[in-house]
Amino acid sequence: MTSALKAEASTEGRLRFPPDFLWGAATAAYQIEGAATEDERTPSIWDTFSATPGKVRNGDTGHVAADHYHRCGEDIAIMSDLGLKAYRFSVGWPRVRPAGSGPVNPAGMGFYDRLVDGLLAAGIRPVLTLYHWDLPQELEDAGGWTNRDTAYRFAEYAGLVADRLGDRVGLWSTLNEPWCSAFLGYGSGEHAPGRTDPAAALTAAHHLLLAHGLGVQALRAASLRADAQVSLVINPTTVRPVSNAPGDVDAARRIDGLINRIFLDPVLRGHYPADVQADTAHLTGWNFVRNGDLATIATPIDLLGVNYYQPMLVGAGEPPGPVPVSSPEAVRPPSAWPGSEDVRFLQPPGPLTDMGWSVDASGLRELLGRIRRDYGDIPLVITENGAAYADEPDPAGEVHDPERVRYLHEHLTAAHEALRDGVDLRGYFAWSLLDNFEWAYGYSKRFGIVHVDYTTQRRTLKDSAYWYRDVITGGGVPVT
Ligand code: FCB
Repeated sequence: MTSALKAEASTEGRLRFPPDFLWGAATAAYQIEGAATEDERTPSIWDTFSATPGKVRNGDTGHVAADHYHRCGEDIAIMSDLGLKAYRFSVGWPRVRPAGSGPVNPAGMGFYDRLVDGLLAAGIRPVLTLYHWDLPQELEDAGGWTNRDTAYRFAEYAGLVADRLGDRVGLWSTLNEPWCSAFLGYGSGEHAPGRTDPAAALTAAHHLLLAHGLGVQALRAASLRADAQVSLVINPTTVRPVSNAPGDVDAARRIDGLINRIFLDPVLRGHYPADVQADTAHLTGWNFVRNGDLATIATPIDLLGVNYYQPMLVGAGEPPGPVPVSSPEAVRPPSAWPGSEDVRFLQPPGPLTDMGWSVDASGLRELLGRIRRDYGDIPLVITENGAAYADEPDPAGEVHDPERVRYLHEHLTAAHEALRDGVDLRGYFAWSLLDNFEWAYGYSKRFGIVHVDYTTQRRTLKDSAYWYRDVITGGGVPVT
């Protein structure tokens, strides 16, 4: 019986999820670990980028972050207190294989070894992402993701981590959100390494996909547990045209191609979308795609990880007048969208989070249904979902974050609707366990269900953490 068939409507005032549903929270290495120069870790592109004036808000860096490298025991105790069934974290490539190639660094690998053991001892399933954007700087100096060789270095690294942790980690992801790595890292330059070349972004996207395929093969060749599952995590979204006018519909097609189909088609169908290749033909001849690459990229996976925050609303050409938009897509340099630079991004309806992202859970249900309809019954996991709000402890030391509770509530309700629609949804991971380094926004945005005071490193459970614990231990989302 699939998970979908096991989803039940409320019997006792709760939307019930399948008994084996994976309730978790997520983080990423560079965003929480700190200890950037300890135990022979070498710089990643994010160390370099954040040390470059003007790139990250307030000049923030991940040098200390939430100090998780030293507080991992305390953080596991918090996860345990929350009743988490799973914890999604990423391994820092420059920590376990400094400089990107060469021998394993025992101290760096030892940290993840202890983390995994600590999680298992607490009854929490480790869910491991191999690459959440922290490319070793030495590899970037050799061309980064525009260099095909980086894909092969990634596969070696994947095999090394799997050889060490494969006996205990059952759920693996190769990459997190290759769209961001490629298009924000090499296109718009908002993320490390900060390059602004649309052709480089497309080249990077292909090499990331190749790294994924080679990585899946390396994982399967290593000594993984017999029941291990391998996945890719992407950030697809629902892209809506602002009207039915042909230009607006075409704008939606193009953006859908660049954020959704450019990853889903090669991984799940074994080819690139022809329209995306046509739209970008003036920028690149796509000759970075070699014979056999697509077969590698389409190496079967067991699960697809979906990170969802908000839908997109797009139209053709310049806006007719001043449009009040605060969505990052609207203000993002157009070079993030190779070949679609003239698409206009509008503010989708719904209240806004502290990121200026719209709160619209209908986009999640629609997205999960669309993936099922267009790509078949691949098991899905919501690997990230959450919201930033400017919450701070009150005088009593409590953190009240009703907007985040509402965001999680609405999105989990939408996830339940998707289950009832027949989507084979296996789990949900709140982004994020802890407040952390939010990339170009530094520490100015708080996504955690647990508050972090960056001066004292004190952790305080927010109301949303208590609410989430009740969902997990109570077996479902309260119906209100
Ligand atoms: C995603 C990233 C994650 C975090 C959230 C808010 O794109 O994967 O690291 O920054 O957005």
